[in-house]
Amino acid sequence: MLTKEKISPFATDTLKGLTAQNKYLLPKYFYDQNGSKIFQQIMRMPQYYPTDCEMEIFSRQGAAIAKSMIPAQSPFEMVELGSGDGLKTKILLKALTQMQLNFTYTPVDISIHALDELESDLQKQFPGIKIKKKAGDFFQIMKDLAAQNGSPKVLLFLGSNIGNFMSEERDVFMKLLSSMTTRGDKVLIGFDRKKSPDIISEAYDDPAGLTRDFNLNHLLRINHELDADFDIAQFYHHTSYNPFTGAMKSYLLSKIEQTVKLGALNEKIFFGKWEPIFMELSQKFNYDDIHLLAREYGFKVSQNFTDDKNYFTDSLWIKT
Ligand code: AVJ
Repeated sequence: MLTKEKISPFATDTLKGLTAQNKYLLPKYFYDQNGSKIFQQIMRMPQYYPTDCEMEIFSRQGAAIAKSMIPAQSPFEMVELGSGDGLKTKILLKALTQMQLNFTYTPVDISIHALDELESDLQKQFPGIKIKKKAGDFFQIMKDLAAQNGSPKVLLFLGSNIGNFMSEERDVFMKLLSSMTTRGDKVLIGFDRKKSPDIISEAYDDPAGLTRDFNLNHLLRINHELDADFDIAQFYHHTSYNPFTGAMKSYLLSKIEQTVKLGALNEKIFFGKWEPIFMELSQKFNYDDIHLLAREYGFKVSQNFTDDKNYFTDSLWIKT
């Protein structure tokens, strides 16, 4: 039944995922207010190593990273996809301003709130800094930025956010990245590396159950925003790591046979006993994977910046 109300992308995507043959939800919708709060806690727990490792890379090698990522010509534009709280970027901005370079910083984020905060924060810390914030969907903003040519660019995509993309989406993303850049432009991408499955498993299925709560919160968001009646006590959090492919996958499984109502969409979703919802891919990479990916889309790996444990790498690429 069609209603007068406009159906949101969240509603459309949720219905599509829950009525698919193999049910799934999209990880970009984890981050409502409560989801963002739980993710902050995940980043602070000892088992979630990616944040600490990337922070170590930036605090120890930030100046070197900044130096190597400067495009050949000034003024240039530094675009960051998913800027968040900008903790790591501040280290780069500090180095760039100390070198007295002429550049504009363009943070892109889905959260307007996060962008406003970041902007006022940066203006205090770096008076006179040129900021051109852009709120919205990555893919749309990347298309807009690809259409404007102009100054040399360095693009940042940190935190292993690239690991969330399934193959098709990653292809679209990489093609956009390629069309946004011209020869000599640079990109810096954070990759979580293939490592012991024990370490990876603990990070995504932690003893305190924060990651379980993070996943269950997605169902609560559907309850709140789409008037649904998920009973989260009836869903079981399960993760599995495939050491061949590097795919770390998270699921929620229905503990019982049950029917869930999506009130706002006037729909019912049936779950069989132990039927899964695929929640998230957190892809891990080795250096071969990274080199192949770069080459496939017209980039060359120039340098890999890595932490002491070799768990994570920020890979600097040049457009060829
Ligand atoms: C924000 C996508 C990098 O996949 O490691 C953390 C999200 N999910 N714990 C990741 C996440 C469960 C995270 N990224």
